[in-house]
Amino acid sequence: MAGPPLAADPLAEEAVRAYLRCAARAGQRDRGLRVFGRFRLGLRQEMGLEPEAATVRLHAALLEASPTAVAPVPRPRRASGTPFFGREEELESLGAHLARPDHRLLTLSGPGGAGKTRLAREALEGARETFGAAAHFVPLEAADSAAALVSAMAAATGLKLGGAQPPLGQLLAFLGSGRHLLVLDNFEQPGVREETLAAVLALLEGTGGVTLLVTSRRRLGLQAEWVMALGGLAYPGHPDLAAAARSSAVRLFVERAGRVRPGFALGGGNVASLVEICQLCGGLPLALELSAAWAGSLSAPES
Ligand SMILES: Nc1ncnc2c1ncn2[C@@H]1O[C@H](COP(=O)(O)OP(=O)(O)OP(=O)(O)O)[C@@H](O)[C@H]1O
Ligand SMILES: [Mg+2]
Repeated sequence: MAGPPLAADPLAEEAVRAYLRCAARAGQRDRGLRVFGRFRLGLRQEMGLEPEAATVRLHAALLEASPTAVAPVPRPRRASGTPFFGREEELESLGAHLARPDHRLLTLSGPGGAGKTRLAREALEGARETFGAAAHFVPLEAADSAAALVSAMAAATGLKLGGAQPPLGQLLAFLGSGRHLLVLDNFEQPGVREETLAAVLALLEGTGGVTLLVTSRRRLGLQAEWVMALGGLAYPGHPDLAAAARSSAVRLFVERAGRVRPGFALGGGNVASLVEICQLCGGLPLALELSAAWAGSLSAPES
């Protein structure tokens, strides 16, 4: 059942490189450095080899990144049309929060690529029973001020701003006392925190039934806030085929790799590598997707 050791497996070195790229982009420098260190040690101990030049270059680039640098908000990722895996407990808990009229500010926090946006979209669909058509997704990648935040909310809810009244006042009047759900996605724009938080508070205080589901790499820090910290998808601790087949991280990896290499499947021959990759990625969906794209394009299907 046990597959080849990680360090002897070329699939694994590609996955490590994909992970290092992802770590650099997501601002996860220290985590990337740890993964590289573990990989290099394993390679030396098991094979007496050094990592390939491309891997060393990525490591060097990560070393140069500032430890405290806030990662840039990545490109917008629109609804992908790809299958959604796992997160059953999180969805249930989100659904319970959103159904309660007294829980009006809920933040999904977690590292870049953890799947906050994707989960919030799923939760929004699930909440349609409560909110009907008054459930809106508000993308904030381009919003760099409180004014832009208000405009984005107006655009998402179908309000046409105009006239002499300040836009926030128009939005409050428009939303009124009815039940609305607004998903404020990617709320971590730099430089506008105080202003945007003030707008969020005004929205909660100035309306009767608006619930905000915020996705952000860090929590807002407001008293009214409920926080759900999101980690990676579940993956097995050992290379057990049945456990791997149930695990959402492995299923995500296999599905994405299959898009690049049709027929790619989990099996006795690759279960150890796949579980190891999921562990290296900490189950983070974006890291898994990037690794799968690389691994799927490089390895022959093994099952
Ligand atoms: N449970 C899941 N099942 C399938 N794909 C997922 C799942 N969670 C996330 N993904 C995919 O992983 C990628 C990263 O997810 P997402 O954009 O939601 O992360 P994020 O936490 O919002 O990141 P950021 O902090 O950069 O905004 C996306 O391509 C998304 O479709
Ligand atoms: Mg996001």
